[in-house]
Formats: sequence, C-alpha cells, structure tokens
Amino acid sequence: MRKVLVLNGPNLSRLGSREPEVYGTASYVDLVGQVSALAVELGLQADVRQTDDESVLIGWLHEAVDDGCDVIINPAAFTHYSYATRDACAMVTKADLKLIEVHISNPHSREEFRHTSVISAVATGVIAGFGINSYLLALRQLTH
Ligand code: DQA
Repeated sequence: MRKVLVLNGPNLSRLGSREPEVYGTASYVDLVGQVSALAVELGLQADVRQTDDESVLIGWLHEAVDDGCDVIINPAAFTHYSYATRDACAMVTKADLKLIEVHISNPHSREEFRHTSVISAVATGVIAGFGINSYLLALRQLTH
C-alpha cells in the first residue's frame, strides 16, 4: 500500500482545547482517526505524526525523501518563519514527490504575521481554511 506521511508541527497535539473558535472542537485523536479512515478508503496508508520539535519534523521530511513518500504537512507556526523547514520541504518536491501544505484555519484572514508562508513556494499546493477537512481534501488530491 502506498504510504503518505501526514506531518503536524507545534501545538497541534492540543487540537480541541486550543482556541476552539479558531481550530474547532475536534481533537488531535479525532484528526488521526479521520485521516487514517479516509486513507484506507482511498487505498493509502497514512502515517500521521505530530511534533513540537523542528529537528524532528525535518528528520521526518528527510525520511519522506529517502522512502519516496508523498507528504501532507501542517507546519503550524513554522510556516511563517522556518527556512530550515522550508529547505527540507523543498527536498521533497525536488525529489518529484508531492508535498501539500495544509492549515486548519485560513491564515490569510488572521494576524498579519500569518499572511506569510515560507513553505508555499516549495509546496506542490496549499489547502487552508476548511478545518480538519483541509487534510481530507489533500488526501483526495494525492489519489488524483
Ligand atoms: C495553523 C495556522 C498557523 O498560523 C498556526 O501557527 C498554527 C496552525 C492552522 O492549521 O491553521 O499552529 O497552521
């Protein structure tokens, strides 16, 4: 079965309790459940992970390159300033693998610092603003 890495950056383990008016009431466990279930339906194996540690996230992106896996990534706050995460994402797309940047909220409708993504220019595409559905839309796109 084709494996997809679904990577989540800092604070996303707190989904459900963290600013529910922005991120909704579904928990991280709900996210893992919904993504894993749809992946099975689509004939994919989703490996869903979360870390607050940038070096761990970068290691997972290297792993995607080495294993030839497409990536769905919510880089969370790293989106806005981490050139190291960006460079690791670029390695994925330069290897001809897909990397879809997802966000639960629409960062463009929020504070100004969230309007910049240093990741988008090296991503295959971006899906933002649809809650947990952003991940599900990304998964569907990978099977097109
Ligand atoms: C986020 C948006 C980011 O601005 C924020 O730092 C996050 C979550 C989202 O999914 O909407 O942690 O990536």
